[in-house]
Amino acid sequence: MSHRRLSADQLEVAFGHRRVLRGATLEVPRGQRLALLGANGSGKTTLLRTLAGAVRPGAGCVLVDDRPVNYDRAGLRAHRQVVQLVAQNPDDQLFAADVYRDVSFGPLNLGLPEAEVRKRVADALAVLSIEDLAERPIHELSYGQRKRVAIAGALAMEPCVMLLDEPTAGLDPQGVDEMVTALESLLQAHTTVVISTHEVDFALWWADSVAVLVDGTVRHGDPTALLGDAELVAAARLRQPMVLQAAARLGLAPGGITDVAGLVRALRPAQGDEVSPPRAPAGPAGRRVR
Ligand SMILES: Nc1ncnc2c1ncn2[C@@H]1O[C@H](COP(=O)(O)OP(=O)(O)OP(=O)(O)O)[C@@H](O)[C@H]1O
Ligand SMILES: [Mg+2]
Repeated sequence: MSHRRLSADQLEVAFGHRRVLRGATLEVPRGQRLALLGANGSGKTTLLRTLAGAVRPGAGCVLVDDRPVNYDRAGLRAHRQVVQLVAQNPDDQLFAADVYRDVSFGPLNLGLPEAEVRKRVADALAVLSIEDLAERPIHELSYGQRKRVAIAGALAMEPCVMLLDEPTAGLDPQGVDEMVTALESLLQAHTTVVISTHEVDFALWWADSVAVLVDGTVRHGDPTALLGDAELVAAARLRQPMVLQAAARLGLAPGGITDVAGLVRALRPAQGDEVSPPRAPAGPAGRRVR
């Protein structure tokens, strides 16, 4: 489903006199994991909302396959079938009485036949492993369950690109692991996955590439290169990932070190594979090796 190409060209977004995006340019790599990083207030949510068509830039444009988004009703409707945004707080998104009704809302709104709607809801609930929640009232669910339902609702629109605003925020370590598994299911279905976060350790481990927001502009590239760049990280008001800090102190080349297991492998190549990786932010063992 990741056949469409989403990009942003020289976006300018201001709220009153506050210029939040100042020429932000980004090409979202298709079918990959992209982590959007930045300090509080740096514009992560604003950039995601702009990419989703919810905020119209004052200048610059959002493009799908090099065609600028059209902000009339039909244009936005078409854009939402390509790009879906999942809000940080599920309660900003969920509004129906129960899970089935919430997840089916988007497909029903597209005017799809009942059988297709049922299939899309079933598929989305299965990807998020929440089939058992289908009949449950939303207000009874835990925060982590509501986050998954919100993602299922977006997924039922079968977008090419899923934008998730801080999907791991507020989740316990097991919740983070489950969220990572859910994101992997999206990727396996060839959906492009973009998340925002300020957790640099998680981003280094999880992402194929990172986009760092600095003064309203975007630096996009390899996670190790960008998050290992002390100047960039300071300018973005972030910090370097722990394993890169440790690698630097140990005099190790950072390539391939994306989690504790990678650090140990670099330190003791013969024994590294015997070390169990920690839980989040390292996640499932040995998945990411660069
Ligand atoms: N609708 C709005 N009206 C006015 N100002 C806004 C609006 N949305 C965002 N802002 C401002 O834009 C700036 C960027 O906000 P944004 O929510 O995009 O940051 P963020 O990187 O997502 O932060 P956080 O990590 O806290 O979620 C902030 O100064 C914020 O106050
Ligand atoms: Mg935000």
